[in-house]
Amino acid sequence: MGIFLDSVNIDDVRKAMELGFVSGVTTNPSLMAKVSESPRKVIEQICGISVGPVFYQVTADTPEEREKEGREFHAINPDKVMLKIPATTENMALVAKLKPDIRCAVTAVFSGHQAYVACEAGARYLIPYVNRATRLMGDGCSLVAEIASVVETLEGPAEILAASIKSPSEAMNAVLAGAHHLTLPLDVLLSLGNHPLSDQAIAEFNQNSGRSHQ
Ligand code: G3P
Repeated sequence: MGIFLDSVNIDDVRKAMELGFVSGVTTNPSLMAKVSESPRKVIEQICGISVGPVFYQVTADTPEEREKEGREFHAINPDKVMLKIPATTENMALVAKLKPDIRCAVTAVFSGHQAYVACEAGARYLIPYVNRATRLMGDGCSLVAEIASVVETLEGPAEILAASIKSPSEAMNAVLAGAHHLTLPLDVLLSLGNHPLSDQAIAEFNQNSGRSHQ
């Protein structure tokens, strides 16, 4: 299991890594578009801070250009950079082509059949968008469960990294549905360990222990 930060904000990355239980960082083109630095610079910076994998999504127009882009970004830090390839049949062929050199993550997986072919192509990670699938299809966690069944039937080795998660309960439901890993924005990540009743219990303990010393 691993908890990842979904962000390109360097301060967020630092804060997440200071927690000591965050395994790596995922990025996507929409997040990249919000910062002024080039994607290469952002990935270089995040690799310098993250303890583990740093996911970069290829965006070039053709499979040949995406392969070139992917190899160039992977070369930034071969131990850390994990390529994200969006789920299309054309891109599954790219995942299979890169497999001898680079194991990829297949992202934007919205069906069991895409998960199946991604596994056959040699994907290391399958990335479903939980909240987006709930909004567009009804139940993002049943999508995670379907993908988990595919992985189990094939006996791995792909792992599910659930993305597009907007709340702690959605995070937990994704894990219970079979996600091996989660990627979360910083606010959701920071709220995972909290609960109002825990705060209440802590306040009571503090109050009682204060009284006991009086
Ligand atoms: O990395 C992609 C994923 O996090 C998308 O999330 O909120 O745009 O559905 P969202």
